[in-house]
Amino acid sequence: MLLVRNLLPVYLNKQSIFSMPCNLKKLVTHNIKTYLNRNCSTKTIKVKLNMYDAEIKNLFWPSALRCSYMWLRDHCRCLKCYNVSTNQRKLDLLSIVSEIHPINCTVDDESLKISWSDGHFSSYNVDWLWNNNYQGHFHHVRQSTKTPVLWDGVEAGKIDVAHVTMETFMNSDVGLCSIVDSILKFGVAFVTNVCPTLKATETVAVRLAEIQCTLFGNMWEFSDEMVHSDTAYSKQALDAHTDGTYLTEPPGQQVFHCLHHDGTGGQTLLVDGFRAATELKSCHPEVYDRLCKTYLEAQYIEDGKHYAATYTVLRCHPVSGSLEQVRFNLYDRAPMYTVPEGEVQQTYSDLQDLARVIRHPGGEWWFKLEPGTVVFIDNWRVLHGRASYTGTRRMAGCYLSRDNFLSTARQLQLV
Ligand SMILES: [Fe+2]
Ligand SMILES: [Zn+2]
Repeated sequence: MLLVRNLLPVYLNKQSIFSMPCNLKKLVTHNIKTYLNRNCSTKTIKVKLNMYDAEIKNLFWPSALRCSYMWLRDHCRCLKCYNVSTNQRKLDLLSIVSEIHPINCTVDDESLKISWSDGHFSSYNVDWLWNNNYQGHFHHVRQSTKTPVLWDGVEAGKIDVAHVTMETFMNSDVGLCSIVDSILKFGVAFVTNVCPTLKATETVAVRLAEIQCTLFGNMWEFSDEMVHSDTAYSKQALDAHTDGTYLTEPPGQQVFHCLHHDGTGGQTLLVDGFRAATELKSCHPEVYDRLCKTYLEAQYIEDGKHYAATYTVLRCHPVSGSLEQVRFNLYDRAPMYTVPEGEVQQTYSDLQDLARVIRHPGGEWWFKLEPGTVVFIDNWRVLHGRASYTGTRRMAGCYLSRDNFLSTARQLQLV
């Protein structure tokens, strides 16, 4: 009897019935009748039908799950509603009426079965419902997503950044997982024992993800010959920055391989942009907020090319709110015509605040890239730079798009 009472819709009181829309009064009465006539519960799962949604309780879930009828009908995964070969929806969204509601419902330990007012029958795996509903998905995301492990110059020497030999990386899922996991956690990973050639670098790169072609082509090799209008093609020192701020989608991964260097200097500099932004947020939350909202343009101009993109320096996930991208390149800033005059002074101050955190020597990780070691750098998180150098230095590398990298990570079930 207790179970039946638990299943009664929450609107089973006079006041709420009177306040509900006229076209739903009939539905409510009908549902009550249906439920009193059926035993729709198990030991672990209980379902309560509300006016617009089903409330599902599972002893193994941290909270009850509420799925609106519209959502449930839209997420039917039967062969009429969903193409399992292409993983695409078949059910026409416009065919679902807003008054859609269950006529009948049964539930067991694994599935929820609903006969709908439009005559359709749906069967849902309850765990699937949890994992794919807002409430469950974001609980799951918060629990399972690799939380970035932030590092500064001192911690960089202690964190467990992956160093995997090319043989292991190329020939085992364990090697690939180790590199992907390291990038997700630290934004950096190394593959060692690589032949110092462009071809071997490409072989390593495409094992992780497809190459992102940019104005620099697919694979590139550069020295101090100024073949592009970029300071990278010189012997000068470079402050920490991210690449491609002038692109709508900046490269996801930066791939570097030093093929040859016969001089001094040229050490690689890395700075954890997420750590810098997090530090800024804890000291000056208002500056962090403004850098998430203020749009700045970046540009790349050379003969025959003119790229420009207008984005914020910091960008957070639109739903979870967690920091997702740092776009920071002081060299490639376009004229600041995206900021109204009254906000210019504040914007400069904010940018300088972030630059000071990024340039703080305590946050810098310096190391010398040697021929034979390929480094993957998450260009949406970790800033790179270099010391000036002498002699001949040839670097090879490429970009991998974030989409392609995350596709690899999802297939490995690491995100
Ligand atoms: Fe760069
Ligand atoms: Zn269906």
